[in-house]
Amino acid sequence: MGRNTKKRTQTWWKEAVVYEIYPASFKDSNDDGIGDIPGIVSKLDYLRDLGVDVIHICPHYQSPQVDMGYDISNYEEIHEPYGTVEDVQTLIDAAHGLGMKIIFDLVINHSSNMHKWFQESRSSKSSPKRDWYFWRPPKIDADGNRHPPNNWRSHFTVPAWTWDEVTQEYYLHIYAPEMPDFNWENKQTREAIYNTSITFWLKRGIDGFRIDTVNKYSKNVSFPDAEITNPKEETQPAWRHYNHGPRIHEFLGEMKDIFDQYSALTVGELSSFPRTKEGVMEFVSSRTGPLNMVFNFDISDLGQKRKPGQKGPVPFDVQPFKQEMSRWQTFASDPEGWITLYLENHDAPRSLSRFGRDFSLEDQTRVGKMLAMIMATMTGTLFLYQGQEIGMSNLPRSWPIDEYKDIRSVNMYKRAQQTCAGKPECLARARDDLWKTARDHARLPMQWNMGPNSGFTSEGVTPWMRVHDDWEQHNVELQLGNSSSLLEFWKRILKLRKEYKELFIYGAYKLVESQEEDLFIFVKEGPERKSLTVVNFSNSPKKWEGPSDILGVGSRLLLGTTGGKEGDVLNAWEGRVYLKSS
Ligand code: GLC
Ligand code: CA
Repeated sequence: MGRNTKKRTQTWWKEAVVYEIYPASFKDSNDDGIGDIPGIVSKLDYLRDLGVDVIHICPHYQSPQVDMGYDISNYEEIHEPYGTVEDVQTLIDAAHGLGMKIIFDLVINHSSNMHKWFQESRSSKSSPKRDWYFWRPPKIDADGNRHPPNNWRSHFTVPAWTWDEVTQEYYLHIYAPEMPDFNWENKQTREAIYNTSITFWLKRGIDGFRIDTVNKYSKNVSFPDAEITNPKEETQPAWRHYNHGPRIHEFLGEMKDIFDQYSALTVGELSSFPRTKEGVMEFVSSRTGPLNMVFNFDISDLGQKRKPGQKGPVPFDVQPFKQEMSRWQTFASDPEGWITLYLENHDAPRSLSRFGRDFSLEDQTRVGKMLAMIMATMTGTLFLYQGQEIGMSNLPRSWPIDEYKDIRSVNMYKRAQQTCAGKPECLARARDDLWKTARDHARLPMQWNMGPNSGFTSEGVTPWMRVHDDWEQHNVELQLGNSSSLLEFWKRILKLRKEYKELFIYGAYKLVESQEEDLFIFVKEGPERKSLTVVNFSNSPKKWEGPSDILGVGSRLLLGTTGGKEGDVLNAWEGRVYLKSS
């Protein structure tokens, strides 16, 4: 008996469509230019009609917003412009009332430096909370100069240690200096974290968490220097040392005990490491893993990452996309494993702009439908990011640099200004790289209608981020009820996904090899039927041929992106799904 004949459990969260909401940019209800909780409540019907089962809200807690809420100063309070704890309770109840579930972001690798625990910790070396964060004395060189305890670089490009005058020591932050890392080695700290961030909200009825930086809680606390990858720089990438430390599974096990008491849904953000099947299985195995599923970065890194020695990110290519998709589909076909399917989130550029290389404006909807078709016919829990369903794309290249608000973008550009001083070409290239990788693209206001500010906020209000120039061509109002729109296509294909869940959600995946690199063809096999998805990942027509056992007698076209044409030529960006009963 083959591996696929082992029985896999079917569960609601495997079948769910999860929709990620970025609160600042979703819907502004009180005209201050910032999205808010009542704004989300006002759009719940829209989400239910789209086919959403679970909503994931990015951090909405009290925060100075150095990193858009990923710097939390109080886990039990709400960021004031977003609303109150009462508003959040209304949101939880309203979502449940419509039959949807709701998960929050759990950000507990670090807090804000304005959290009262950090304030206490920093106040003196003898503070009872001193050990809740990582404090270390400076290294003093032969000339008596002060240096950080090691050479680690933070994710936001600055050193990972910041000097604090008050007690004359450095503290660790693998993100911004305003985001000090908790010391998870301390049991008391861990328990306090669990109470304030996990139990507090599960008791209020939420259904689970998207867990930020899930592999970073346990670090190498001997804090060795990182390998030198660029001798010209003072700090070095140190992700090996602060990811997947020796106690990570012990800590996640403690968390799991709490999650299990509430049957909470858990999806962890598994960046950097590990990338192997065995490594990911440690986290998600249905027998022994602490989490239901993780976001790994193999797809979201495509077109984003640099290779050593190469200038700029490696351009997107269909080949690795197919390979990675296939690799993780195979992983998901193991009854013990499960995956997330996602192309977008609040940390990445828009999928259309990334995967639809050089698409023309007329093609925007086609590219969106083609990507939707791939996602909706694959195995895994499907995650959509706000605006993806209406085909929002990256912010225009022509926008000035001050339209980029994200701390990572701002830091990257500042650094480029220093390293490229006097070299305009170098700065132009850095600017181009920033456009390709910026997190800002995903944070533009949601486009609701044909009115001013696209209905995100009222006329005359300046939204916190500029509305995309294309809002009159791409918005919810225009697409709703229009049978040829991307939005209606998503609705339709999400329904089909559930109707044929044995196939699309739980079926066994097989890649069909093709001579044409730009064609992506795969088969899904369920107990009673097979399906074949074929898409043309390019802007020119392609001839294709599929396996005759699926395309022969008894097969029919279930759905096409361009109105159901059959035949052996796929137009630019065209996609089709065929069905065959056995
Ligand atoms: C995660 C979040 C990102 C944030 C970082 C620090 O990667 O998705 O937005 O900046 O963690 O919390
Ligand atoms: Ca508001």
